[in-house]
Amino acid sequence: LSPASELLDAIETPVAVVDAPTVRANARRVAEYCARHGLAWRPHVKTHKSLGIARIQLEAGARGLTVATPREAEVMAEVTDDVLLAYPPIGRERLQRLMHLPERLSLTVALDSREALRGLAAASREAAREVGVLVEVDLGMGRVGVQTPEELTALAGEVAADGSLDYRGILFYPGHIRARASEQVRSVEEAAVRLDTFLAALDRSGLSPATVSGGSTPTLWTSHHFGGITEIRSGTCIYNDRDMLELGVCDPADCAYTILATVVSTSVRGQAVIDAGSKALAKESLRTVGDGFGWLPDHPDLVVSALSEEHGIIPLKEGGWNPRVGDRVRVVPNHVCVSVNLQDRLVVLDGDTAECWPIEARGRL
Ligand SMILES: Cc1ncc(COP(=O)(O)O)c(C=O)c1O
Repeated sequence: LSPASELLDAIETPVAVVDAPTVRANARRVAEYCARHGLAWRPHVKTHKSLGIARIQLEAGARGLTVATPREAEVMAEVTDDVLLAYPPIGRERLQRLMHLPERLSLTVALDSREALRGLAAASREAAREVGVLVEVDLGMGRVGVQTPEELTALAGEVAADGSLDYRGILFYPGHIRARASEQVRSVEEAAVRLDTFLAALDRSGLSPATVSGGSTPTLWTSHHFGGITEIRSGTCIYNDRDMLELGVCDPADCAYTILATVVSTSVRGQAVIDAGSKALAKESLRTVGDGFGWLPDHPDLVVSALSEEHGIIPLKEGGWNPRVGDRVRVVPNHVCVSVNLQDRLVVLDGDTAECWPIEARGRL
């Protein structure tokens, strides 16, 4: 037995297991795509919240890192000098923590309101720290982002005029586009037209952006259809998940993250019960179509169909996998980022070796 399989046999389940060669291959593929299209990659670390995985992304050529929380920024400052907070910087506590990030760090913040601008400007003045700003625009998701070219030029103009802020451009997140690549053409075109309108208004106002930050994993391979885009923040692509498989963004072999679980009961005929419930897999419905909460890569016709907190129910198929109590099985969760957020550690496999890694940027402290 290799040390890796010994560890996997011995470790308490449920536990998150990550395959390092697959992570490296996923990172390489994104970096190559970006190089081909003249884009920078600034991956969102919310997917993994891990210093070790961030190092792999930076080694593959990531320009810097994107974060959502002060905690993620503080932790990631250990491995990068370039952090983008892609979340509205609202609230004194959040601002204070940002201003206390190491001085060597180039900090850029996305915002979509005058309130955010004024709070950030005041904090940056008080801390005597220059902060870069991207004004967020909404290309159709309907979550955050200014809605019209007029709102954009007004807010970008205010940022550019502020002595303590550095206007660096705009940011969008095409999170509403969740179709297979072949069925995305229309919605990507619509969003790209909207982006054009925003960019044209900035050009007319003398506010042409140096940075146009976009990207998601569902639109990963169509990012270059957004004219003017300079960087992508795609994050889920480092691990992938069942949602991304259903969208055809990745192949089963590109799923780097699984939950290793143990069969704890087969008492009810026709089903196996595993120890991975909603507290390990996360009770996220597929955002594409389909049922269940996870897929079994070693038994591709099976899914986890129902969850309690500590139980996952797997309906079995006639003549197929017939597990015994105590058997172990891997599950690809529907939405990997939320599953990661529930874990205390990762078992990272690299060929014959296995190591436990902390997930440093979890939580708020
Ligand atoms: C603002 C922002 N940027 C980038 C991303 C990364 O997108 P994905 O996880 O689809 O790669 C997200 C994901 O939620 C996001 O909210």
